Amino acid sequence: MKRILTRIFHDFNRFMKIRVKAFLHFFTEYYKGFKIIFFKGVKMEKDKVFANKKLKVKPFEFNKDVADVFDDMLNRSVPLYDESIKRQSQLAFNYYQTGTHIYDLGCSHGNLGILIANQFKTKSFSMIGVDSSKPMIEKYSNRLERYDNSSQVDLICGYLEDVKIENASVVLINLTLQFIQCEKRDGLIEKIYKGLNPNGILLLTEKIVHEEMEIDEIQRNYYKAFKLENGYSELEISQKRDALEKVLIPDTIETHRNRISKAGFATFDIWLKWFNFASMIALKK
Ligand SMILES: C[S@@+](CC[C@H](N)C(=O)[O-])C[C@H]1O[C@@H](n2cnc3c(N)ncnc32)[C@H](O)[C@@H]1O
Repeated sequence: MKRILTRIFHDFNRFMKIRVKAFLHFFTEYYKGFKIIFFKGVKMEKDKVFANKKLKVKPFEFNKDVADVFDDMLNRSVPLYDESIKRQSQLAFNYYQTGTHIYDLGCSHGNLGILIANQFKTKSFSMIGVDSSKPMIEKYSNRLERYDNSSQVDLICGYLEDVKIENASVVLINLTLQFIQCEKRDGLIEKIYKGLNPNGILLLTEKIVHEEMEIDEIQRNYYKAFKLENGYSELEISQKRDALEKVLIPDTIETHRNRISKAGFATFDIWLKWFNFASMIALKK
């Protein structure tokens, strides 16, 4: 009898533990979602794009499936994403010259652009967001409807390679140069340099590679651990890696530094770095 009672008590205890754990998990996820909806004005759906085994992994695209889950994807796969865009929005505000334009190249659905617009409050500014993905631009445009100063933001659905850059004081390329064909990257940075006014600023954030194999391996291992910690499975990580293989081609810091200096920028620095991610700053004199 005593054994049966102990068993019942043990099972009940286990059952309650699981219930409490499930409740806490639900509550945490609910709170996270609420925070994102409340502060970013966008509903965050869970990224399951690569969760199921695919017979053939297609090259990665910024399509509607990705646009729908993009915030969750960014938060779980870009280290220090919030910190990086917050500081870039402050830099953009501080370097903005009245009567000029801010260019947000590869603006996606506007996380960075909306933070920048919030910096200006009632002060006037002009920002041009460019992205080749229609679902991203549509989402950005819908988000802007909730903001008073949205008329100061122009969105272009098009390619960075084709866009004209003129009378700029701030140019941001956040996690996007890596998607441009390698042979077109020098030309794009030169075009940005020419379009910037004196004392203008370029802010560039990229996934990077290291030329020394040993360091590169450390960086990749920590990045994989970061994604596992954030709930991605081995299958999701490997299928996404395959999808991005020929689509996202990272450069080394040296390549970025040389390209930026060759274009004419006077000053270059890395202001934020996390293993294989770097945020860079360059100034035109
Ligand atoms: C990783 S996302 C950028 C994230 C965004 N800047 C942010 O701060 O949240 C890359 C974006 O670049 C866009 N893109 C990729 N290649 C492009 C090109 N050649 N021209 C314009 N946009 C491009 C994609 O559609 C995608 O929205």
